Amino acid sequence: MEGRFHFYEGYNMKEVTFPIRVMHELGIKTLFVSNASGGMNPDFKIGDLMIITDHINFFPEHPLHGPNYPTGPRFPDMHEAYDHKLVELANSIAKEKGIRIMHGIYMGVQGPTFETPAEYRMYHKLGADAVGMSTVPEVIVARHSDIKVFGISVITDLGGFDVPVKVSHEEVQEAANAAQPRMTEIMREMIKRS
Ligand code: HPA
Repeated sequence: MEGRFHFYEGYNMKEVTFPIRVMHELGIKTLFVSNASGGMNPDFKIGDLMIITDHINFFPEHPLHGPNYPTGPRFPDMHEAYDHKLVELANSIAKEKGIRIMHGIYMGVQGPTFETPAEYRMYHKLGADAVGMSTVPEVIVARHSDIKVFGISVITDLGGFDVPVKVSHEEVQEAANAAQPRMTEIMREMIKRS
């Protein structure tokens, strides 16, 4: 996909995740997701790539709310939302290619405001390394349909640990554009090898 539907744009969760339903009907087995996010882990730098190892769903609505779709169980297991083997494959490719790669937990929030310093700190205390306004709904629906998931966050800004820097959409886009070739290189190679 080029872009996605975001909850903050006013789409409901069924609309946000509809493309995943279509992909499932088309027979896809693995979903590669990417996003721009704010880094809260003090080891992160702007432009870093973070392999998503897990997520925290902080959206106010759940994409599986309502009658259960027959693609999966009523109460789906989420222990390995992000496929461990694909993470290992990405690690070895990044190492081979000398690409700096971080790992962490992605917190999905509704936006559209970027976080206050107190919110970045709170999300970090809750266990997240990066925060963004997407991805979690699509991943939940993919897992409910037994689609494997691999995800990368581009760290486009930093927040929460005494970084009194303002965040703007333009800076986020600039950092994302700069990091994209590295992310694409890893994903292309993963597709070739799996
Ligand atoms: N917060 C939430 N969403 C984001 C951010 C952020 O700092 N950066 C890019 N998307």
